[in-house]
Amino acid sequence: MNLTLKIWRQKGPSVKGKLVTYQVSDISTDMSFLEMLDVLNEKLILDGDDPVAFDHDCREGICGMCGVMINGKAHGGLQTTTCQLHMRSFQDGDTIVIEPWRSRAFPLIKDLAVDRRSFDRIIQAGGYISAPTGTAPEAHSVPVPKKDADAAFDAATCIGCGACVAACPNGSSMLFTAAKVTHLGLMPQGQPERDERVINMVAQQDREGFGGCTNIGECSASCPKGISMETISRLNHDLLGALRAGARPKS
Ligand code: SF4
Ligand code: FES
Repeated sequence: MNLTLKIWRQKGPSVKGKLVTYQVSDISTDMSFLEMLDVLNEKLILDGDDPVAFDHDCREGICGMCGVMINGKAHGGLQTTTCQLHMRSFQDGDTIVIEPWRSRAFPLIKDLAVDRRSFDRIIQAGGYISAPTGTAPEAHSVPVPKKDADAAFDAATCIGCGACVAACPNGSSMLFTAAKVTHLGLMPQGQPERDERVINMVAQQDREGFGGCTNIGECSASCPKGISMETISRLNHDLLGALRAGARPKS
């Protein structure tokens, strides 16, 4: 395939950015989207130009590092990660617009790479348990209802990519935070910190500048792991319970 790419180029956070047009040719339909960008970068390097900066690591849909807006949709809008999006989803001659995640809480580093450490700080605020570590206990020593185990596991598949924030018109991180609250809060081991966890993680997402959730649902529709809106209901349920019990966020 031969493609026209319009890519957001910005040397740094304090410099103005703009869309720059590039042509790429002989792109195989079997390539991933990132491999297509590799082809462009190899050409740019050979020509003595600055390659396009973008985040990536596993390229298998599991690490959460990759993620760009493709034609205005997070990860291209097919509920997969950018690294798992294949060029067979495009047509020969297509023009593809590629931009970084746009959110106040994800400041731009360069080109398509943004700083997502705000997610790490939300996890730091409460995404842990105090159960003793060590050798894994016998699986049946702590019985967990199958329904809860399945829902906790589904929430735990969140890879922290940030597509939910990028897709949300409010720039809300509620789906991410809800996934982190849910996967611990449904398990017996997650109970001791359940109230303080939800209070502190929600307070941290507000401090980071993420927007509020108004139940639009773009987050879940864009999530490569299919995290459901139900997790947000669970977060709100836990939050109300914690507030009623008198829990208050750490300052
Ligand atoms: S909830 Fe989904 S879209 Fe949001 S960070 Fe987790 S995996 Fe990515
Ligand atoms: S590079 Fe790891 S999920 Fe895409």
